[in-house]
Amino acid sequence: MKDFIIIGNKAVTGGKISLNDLCGSAGRMDVMCRCITASLFVSFGMRRDVNVHIVLKGPPSNPKIVRFSGEYLRYLNPDERSAGSLIQKALLLPENDIEKESTPGVYVRTGTLETLIREFSKENRNIILMDENGQNIREAINKNPNIFENPVYILGDNQGILEEDFEILKNYEKEYDIKKISLGEKSLLTSQCITIIHYETDFETTEK
Ligand SMILES: C[S@@+](CC[C@H](N)C(=O)[O-])C[C@H]1O[C@@H](n2cnc3c(N)ncnc32)[C@H](O)[C@@H]1O
Repeated sequence: MKDFIIIGNKAVTGGKISLNDLCGSAGRMDVMCRCITASLFVSFGMRRDVNVHIVLKGPPSNPKIVRFSGEYLRYLNPDERSAGSLIQKALLLPENDIEKESTPGVYVRTGTLETLIREFSKENRNIILMDENGQNIREAINKNPNIFENPVYILGDNQGILEEDFEILKNYEKEYDIKKISLGEKSLLTSQCITIIHYETDFETTEK
């Protein structure tokens, strides 16, 4: 299983979302949509072993987590509006900290990055923070391939990962090993990072 957590620092948590303005009034929801496509789609198919969790931190509600499960997902096409429309439907459900399915394979609840880290650390998953200053991914694959088994990748949006979320990660780092992995010194788009992660780690799996 591969999980991606994408932090949407300004991405809205409800209200009227215009599919024509995902990058403006929806708080860069276009970034979330591209990440969903990059995580889940291959040509003529879907990666059934991938989950994407988008953490929405914008107004008007409490932070929410929308999860797209490759295993059960239906009605998603590889364009931004299609992902945007499924997010829109998820955000219409009443606020609840218990996950509810809004459309097949899409689930919503209130929660933060901390909610997810707490859950994944209990499951002993390999948590990997994607960061320009981390260890190079190829070096890590060569020296310590185990960390790419059952991984959970955390990535920021166009604003990156803000101090408040770094603080959460720092607190968990004390008791739990969170690896920092880099795709090079250049800061890339989040969706580009996801494609590269798939490329590097698919290759690793194929080689074995
Ligand atoms: C557009 S970048 C963020 C840029 C933002 N200006 C910053 O300084 O954080 C979005 C996210 O993609 C990931 N990312 C971008 N380039 C990367 C790289 N070269 N290696 C690893 N992760 C990267 C990081 O998780 C980052 O938070």
